Amino acid sequence: MKYRSHVTSEIDESIVDGEVRVAGWVDSVRDHGGLVFIDLRDHGGIIQLVLDPADAPAEHELAHTLRNEACICAAGRLVMRDPEVVNPNLATGTVEVRTTELEVLSRAGVLPFQLSDENVDETVRLRHRYLDLRRERMQRNLRLRATAVRAMREYLDEHGYVELETPVLTRSTPEGARDFLVPARMRPGNFYALPQSPQLFKQLLMVSGFERYYQVARCFRDEAQRADRQLEFTQLDIEQAFATREEVYSMVEGLFAHVWERTIGATLATPFPRISYHDAMLRYGSDKPDLRFELEIADLTDAWAETGFGVARGAIDAGGVVRVLAGPGAGRFSRREMDELTDYAREWGARGLAWFVVEEDGSLRSPVAKFLSDEEQRVLLERSGAAPGDAIFLMADTEATTCRVLGALRTHLIEILQLEPSSDWAFAWIVDPPVFDWDEDEQRWSPNHHPFTAPTDESLDLLERDPGAARAKAYDVVLNGFELCSGSIRIHDQDVQRRVFEVLGIDRAEAEARFSFLLRALEMGAPPHGGIAPGIDRMVMLLAGEQNIREVIAFPKQQYGIDPLTDAPAPVDTGQLRELSLALDLPPSEAGQAGTSAAVGAGRDG
Ligand code: AMO
Ligand code: AMP
Repeated sequence: MKYRSHVTSEIDESIVDGEVRVAGWVDSVRDHGGLVFIDLRDHGGIIQLVLDPADAPAEHELAHTLRNEACICAAGRLVMRDPEVVNPNLATGTVEVRTTELEVLSRAGVLPFQLSDENVDETVRLRHRYLDLRRERMQRNLRLRATAVRAMREYLDEHGYVELETPVLTRSTPEGARDFLVPARMRPGNFYALPQSPQLFKQLLMVSGFERYYQVARCFRDEAQRADRQLEFTQLDIEQAFATREEVYSMVEGLFAHVWERTIGATLATPFPRISYHDAMLRYGSDKPDLRFELEIADLTDAWAETGFGVARGAIDAGGVVRVLAGPGAGRFSRREMDELTDYAREWGARGLAWFVVEEDGSLRSPVAKFLSDEEQRVLLERSGAAPGDAIFLMADTEATTCRVLGALRTHLIEILQLEPSSDWAFAWIVDPPVFDWDEDEQRWSPNHHPFTAPTDESLDLLERDPGAARAKAYDVVLNGFELCSGSIRIHDQDVQRRVFEVLGIDRAEAEARFSFLLRALEMGAPPHGGIAPGIDRMVMLLAGEQNIREVIAFPKQQYGIDPLTDAPAPVDTGQLRELSLALDLPPSEAGQAGTSAAVGAGRDG
């Protein structure tokens, strides 16, 4: 073998006195009393090379000139280290290579950052991602990702799912985001859309009799990026014919249990608890509650129906609600901290936030306690579940605003109170969401999941009569406050599909124009079917204990969809645009940034 006889993970005391040849990167170089020590790093770990001028003068000389991250190859005899220099933090810490051959395979220039530096600006990291990915953390994350994907394939292959690919250049597949469009040179004026998910194709594959499908699928959505969102991301897309919700639940629980076992050796408790969407919103103010924490919102509206407390009275009379959330230990907050929490609630759209500190004797201290009857205070204390030392936060507003604000406050309190999670992995199913949400801005119904989701049998009558009350055969998996997957049983009856389109304001002509292929397929013996799609990036982020999916994606994008490594997106030259029958029409402020001139193109080519 030319470059190596062993990777460092294969080196241990059992081969002491043997010759080894290793290849990798210079992790560090140190000079100690004439001896040069090199930590050589490869994908298996680190091994120490010792260069003694008495053994190999030329190699010793060469070692002096090495910079961190140079790529080298070395050979020599593996020996035990002297006991006083044993490194217990290193798997190979008891041995070292007395190096007699050293070759520089590739020199390293001045590094933009040291790999050991944890505080490098992210743009700099991404611009030099090839270097950044050499870090142990990034190696660990991406290898974990590969293990996770392998485990998913193992499980699904084992259970008879067929891995199939669906097109990337296609028509719009609506999942609620904006499409990325690709101009079609051969059909001027026409565009492909990149898939927001393989949703429609996987449904067609069910009509095609594949019965059990999966795909590790890249999805594209032109939406605002966040810590858990990228413009392009990867789903484990799954679909199954003749599936009931129960069957999907147990398949997914088995899948996650297998992945968790294979990747981090954790045993998951299954089945996952189920919470209705309605309950999740009521109790946690969120459709993706972090259930590692017990904090629950409580409703006082009925018990306070006769209240004289102005803000509550006003909200109740206007058809709103009064809800509370207890913060364990929050009684210690100062007046200023309480004001800050009120400001926080206002930022989320609250008109105000009332607070009550539970004193040692169980009485309530609050600027507004005097407006409450004894009975109201008793109910407040009882329903909130607060104990002495806690504080209770109260909101009176519309149901929607109260949910949103107390949901955000719950997350915020967990953080600032530094509450201890009660478990590592709090999975749950959030089930029976509405089919439609009312879009205030657009003044119309929009799909809560996507337009292909089947209503529950009891909801079929409600579609036109009371769309807001219709529930869907849909389900999400949430984990530690993140939505990990969404799925549903689909509509396999073209009449129901048309009715859902109608409620969404997609009339027959538009439905034909956009989805005729689906509607035709539903006329050709479509089996009942359903499925789900876990987000792989989010899953791996949580498995890796990272806060951001960019840490588990090899080449992610930053804000505004920019990739600092390649500088994508980039201008194109006028020739390319002309070929596509496109002309740019930019506002003057942005015209300077686009490469519309031949000069830019020439520069790029040259
Ligand atoms: P949905 O749109 O809910 O459902 O997406 C499923 C899962 O994909 C992940 N995800 C994302 N991950 C990173 N960046 C994004 N921008 C992003 N958007 C979504 C999430 C999410 O739970 N076709 C349906 C699935 C189905 O019905 O089978 C769909 O795409 O983890
Ligand atoms: P105000 O009558 O607006 O001065 O409010 C009296 C107290 O009630 C203050 O502590 C406010 O922060 C609080 N408050 C105001 N509006 C609301 C509301 N909608 N819900 C809960 N508390 C509120």
